[in-house]
Amino acid sequence: GPGAHEEAFDAAIAADERIEPRDWMPDAYRATLVRQIAQHAHSEIIGMQPEANWITRAPSLRRKAILMAKVQDEAGHGLYLYSAAETLGASRDELLDKLHSGRQKYSSIFNYPTLTWADVGAIGWLVDGAAITNQVPLCRCSYGPYARAMVRVCKEESFHQRQGYELLLALSRGTEAQHAMAQDAVDRWWWPSLMMFGPPDDASKHSAQSMAWKIKRHSNDELRQRFVDICVPQAESLGLTLPDPELRWNEERGHYDFGPIDWSEFHEVLRGNGPCNEQRLDRRRRAHEEGAWVREAAAAYARKHGEQDGD
Ligand code: ACO
Repeated sequence: GPGAHEEAFDAAIAADERIEPRDWMPDAYRATLVRQIAQHAHSEIIGMQPEANWITRAPSLRRKAILMAKVQDEAGHGLYLYSAAETLGASRDELLDKLHSGRQKYSSIFNYPTLTWADVGAIGWLVDGAAITNQVPLCRCSYGPYARAMVRVCKEESFHQRQGYELLLALSRGTEAQHAMAQDAVDRWWWPSLMMFGPPDDASKHSAQSMAWKIKRHSNDELRQRFVDICVPQAESLGLTLPDPELRWNEERGHYDFGPIDWSEFHEVLRGNGPCNEQRLDRRRRAHEEGAWVREAAAAYARKHGEQDGD
């Protein structure tokens, strides 16, 4: 009966085994994974927009080639993640429909504008750095297809992070105007990057259950602290300042203390009132409509091939 299924599932989680698509799983476990993986997939494809904005204006052929490759990688990450969601029985059309109608979220971070070339560097260093900090533990997520997708995604993200760091370093060591541009980008992206980790632990409604199921391995605040601790020495090597006067080493805790996060800004962005929410969703819907003929042609081609193969 269902009791035996549930026992087998609990035992697999306790033994740190992976749950695979054909295994029995509680409905709520499945629903939580679909929610998180879909939101993650949506973030990857919406996340292409802020940086794609700079492809035509990259300052050299080398920078342009790197940026194009990076934006293509993000599309690929979206595809792995939609495939992982499909293994749970979700349909890709339905997930995209929920994104387009605002019924599923994507990361708050992609609702901020990329005003200068230095923003491409700040996104690589901070946004991709935060993404890696969050995603490395997801490589040990209890759901097999999601965990395996993360292994590959993390390798690519770490390349993205280094490209951002290297870009910012070049600007920081450049002319006075270039240095100022790098500093301005870091000033604007720092706090939104800290918000990527989600609400503080006492306000995170899903954390306790997701950690019990070993979907999440660390709490939002733990990962945020880990990220701050990584960034402080990196900012020093870059010759840039993080825009927080309260940042200081706490000997007792063995971590950096940091100032309060403006959670009202986070909630406004989630409500759709960030600087670019409308633009991002409009652009996504338009891309989807304009791609309809490609999907139709691909489906027709697949049907025709099926017939010719005698299926
Ligand atoms: N942006 C938008 N929504 C967020 C964010 C954020 N930065 N952080 C939390 N939320 C949402 C949650 O999705 C949840 O909303 P919902 O119930 O409608 O789904 C709500 O705020 C409450 O948060 P939590 O209870 O803490 O949610 P959860 O346990 O899912 O933790 C987290 C949030 C840490 C983002 C988790 O979902 C996660 O690790 N996701 C995978 C990573 C990811 O999505 N990365 C995308 C950005 S990185 C990139 O794509 C390059």
